[in-house]
Amino acid sequence: MVDISVEIAGIKLRNPVLTAAGPPSRDAEALIKAAEGGAGGLVAKTISLKPAEVPRPCLSVVNREYSVRIPGFKTYTTCGFLNVELWSDIPYQRWVEREYSLVKEKTGLPLIASIGYTPEEVSKLGRLVEKAGVDGIEFSTHYIGFDPKPIREVAKALRESVEIPIFAKLSPHLPDITPFAKAVEPYVDGIVAINTYGPTLHIDIETGKPLLGGKNGYGWLSGPALKPIAVRYVADIARAVKVPVIGVGGIMSGRDAVEHIMAGASAVEICTGAILEGPGIYGRVAHEVEEFLKTHGYGSIEDIRGMALKWLPEKPLRTTPLPPKVDPEKCTGCRICERACIYEAIEMVKDPRTGKLIAKTIEEKCYGCGLCVSICPTRARYFEEE
Ligand SMILES: Cc1cc2nc3c(=O)[nH]c(=O)nc-3n(C[C@H](O)[C@H](O)[C@H](O)COP(=O)(O)O)c2cc1C
Repeated sequence: MVDISVEIAGIKLRNPVLTAAGPPSRDAEALIKAAEGGAGGLVAKTISLKPAEVPRPCLSVVNREYSVRIPGFKTYTTCGFLNVELWSDIPYQRWVEREYSLVKEKTGLPLIASIGYTPEEVSKLGRLVEKAGVDGIEFSTHYIGFDPKPIREVAKALRESVEIPIFAKLSPHLPDITPFAKAVEPYVDGIVAINTYGPTLHIDIETGKPLLGGKNGYGWLSGPALKPIAVRYVADIARAVKVPVIGVGGIMSGRDAVEHIMAGASAVEICTGAILEGPGIYGRVAHEVEEFLKTHGYGSIEDIRGMALKWLPEKPLRTTPLPPKVDPEKCTGCRICERACIYEAIEMVKDPRTGKLIAKTIEEKCYGCGLCVSICPTRARYFEEE
């Protein structure tokens, strides 16, 4: 039996896949659809004291119009997503009078409000959303400065205003986020990582104009391109603090969610995936996580949470090649690794036992770069344990 329920700061989730602040959580109706789509818990769109005046256009997909030079290698056609949507354009009064209570009544799922941005704003909004019956509060930061103090002040102001669990959502704007995570840790029940990355720019080359209507045409990056950035932040934060981390960024599948969890996340949120696929993505991803646990012999989310952290090396780095081995049983002779190898260090040879073609490493040419190991669709290539 696999158990994918999780509990974070006393909030019980039927599965670890939550909505994230964004269009798929823009009002009560959208959140109810997310619950029907299988979300384990709900995070609503960020509200602030003034409704946002959202520049238009405000969404664009970043498509890859080329295929990589390795035929057959699966890629996402949408590699990223830009937005300039800001926070909710619905007045906070309507959220506290209608949206939160309607969602609670119709879904029965844990509901986390998202609020921003100054200490004064979160104090006032925090009290109001707590009174409206939400189960927790995430405060959103879109801060791109270097000093963690302003973020700590927001965390402190909110902590002093409400009793329910609070979560700080951090922006991926610095090489080292740990001072921010440590600054908010005394005040929060968890940290959400990450918000969108930016500012970034996407130009329509047919017109030469930016695709988005914000200042300078800038937008904020999310979706698959954000995932490695998010996973790195999740891991850094998970190593730096004791409070739970919620991972968000580029999750399109159960395997993406598992990667966040192995980096230390207790649960995950999805925004772009739900914009592109619809509310069914939450249930699909939760189901894929469950299948992953089952097929890999794990019993719960806790069994894999943070399991990558012990492998993030602090020891001296190896700078000599370790040529990968090939498992002849798993190698299908597809040649993807041979084509991918920039060092021409893979040759197809006949397996003497079976006579089928397998990809052998030419050890004296191998740079030990690891690309063939990461690209092999059947995981036939591997590094022998050091
Ligand atoms: C269109 C759009 C609107 C968003 N609005 C908010 C928001 O109001 N508050 C917030 O904290 N994050 C907001 N985000 C950020 C997402 O919640 C999430 O942190 C980010 O997009 C990374 O996750 P993803 O790759 O699954 O989209 C928004 C993202 C998008 C794409």
